[in-house]
Amino acid sequence: MAQIPRGTRDFIPEEMQKRRYLQQRMEATFRGYGYGEIQTPTFETLELFTAKSGASIIDELYNFTDKGGRELALRPELTAPVIRCYIERLQMAPKPLKVFYFGNCFRYDRPQKGRYREFWQAGCELIGTDTPEAHAELVALAYTILKNIGLQNIVLNIGNLHVINAMFEKLRITDAVKKDVLPFIDKSQYEDLFSALRANDISQQDAEAFLEILQTPDLDKIMAYVHGQAQAEAELARLRGILELLKTSFGIADPRVKIGIVRGLDYYKGLVFEIEAPVLGAEKQLCGGGDYELVSLFGGTPVPQAGFAIGCDRALLALETEQFTFPQPSLDVFIVPVTETTIPLALSVASQLRARGLTVDLDLLRRGIGKSLKYARRSMRVSL
Ligand code: HAM
Repeated sequence: MAQIPRGTRDFIPEEMQKRRYLQQRMEATFRGYGYGEIQTPTFETLELFTAKSGASIIDELYNFTDKGGRELALRPELTAPVIRCYIERLQMAPKPLKVFYFGNCFRYDRPQKGRYREFWQAGCELIGTDTPEAHAELVALAYTILKNIGLQNIVLNIGNLHVINAMFEKLRITDAVKKDVLPFIDKSQYEDLFSALRANDISQQDAEAFLEILQTPDLDKIMAYVHGQAQAEAELARLRGILELLKTSFGIADPRVKIGIVRGLDYYKGLVFEIEAPVLGAEKQLCGGGDYELVSLFGGTPVPQAGFAIGCDRALLALETEQFTFPQPSLDVFIVPVTETTIPLALSVASQLRARGLTVDLDLLRRGIGKSLKYARRSMRVSL
């Protein structure tokens, strides 16, 4: 018997019920923030994903050659596809352009709980503005979506790539060393990071100070560390403004600064943020996003771009772990024809009630009343 491919899943009705609940709540919040839905193909040209990241990304993708000899890939994410579509069809649309999407993504990851080879993202892209209020609204949207689906315990971390780059410059770290140490920063492996810095001739004192700034939520300390580096100072002042808006205008009590957020994808440049659900342990990152540059790389007219994506599978796992009570579907009416001669009448009554918008089912196995009611109660969630 053929088996389901590794890293993929089937979803039976009970599971789909939860997934649809999630999608509906998320969609309502996206729409509430003025976003319109967009859909792009499941596969794209391979080049779309290698353009920024280079050929090394191919190891992480599902790619194939089609019968016409075209190099294609199942999408690992939706930002590059949405930007491709923007350049082809939406450059003239009024700005800012706000689009959201739901879609399955494919990554050749090592499967484990919360990490799959086919998974679903809910995300959005905001094109044409990078004011602090636009970025604050974007971060607030991500946070609000996760709250609106019912999550209790989530943590929002915000960083800025210009600042971390200024920190690297201060230590005169070369690009090659930077490439080596970034994965340690990304995974918060500070002991390994410390050893790598020391191995690259960074003094103990400098390495310790670097590590402290990576982990501190104190903007003043970070500001003092990058003092004299104009762009980093300006970005930190901007970050302070965004944090203030998140607290005062959006009511988010505890956004945390984490300068050590570096994000795995190569297209980010300034603001970056992540939202995690600590209950999930290893695969706790629910959402990632920020400010990026892909439009000019793909040949479009330069314009600010930012966005985020939420992993729907992990959001669902987090809700289940928090023991969230999902709404249950229920039938309004279950009809049991008491004799065979009443079957046509039962079918016709069911049709009439359905036409009036009720959810109706009926016994199709010619079982007696007792067995039918038992079935209705157990499998159809009717309260009898
Ligand atoms: P990402 O951080 O690669 O960002 O993915 C976003 C989310 O997708 C993650 O936080 C995680 O919840 C989920 N995810 C990623 N890989 C897997 C996997 N193998 N199994 C289950 N869930 C997974 C992006 O994809 C960017 N395109 C986000 C973005 C949009 N940035 C700007 N606009």
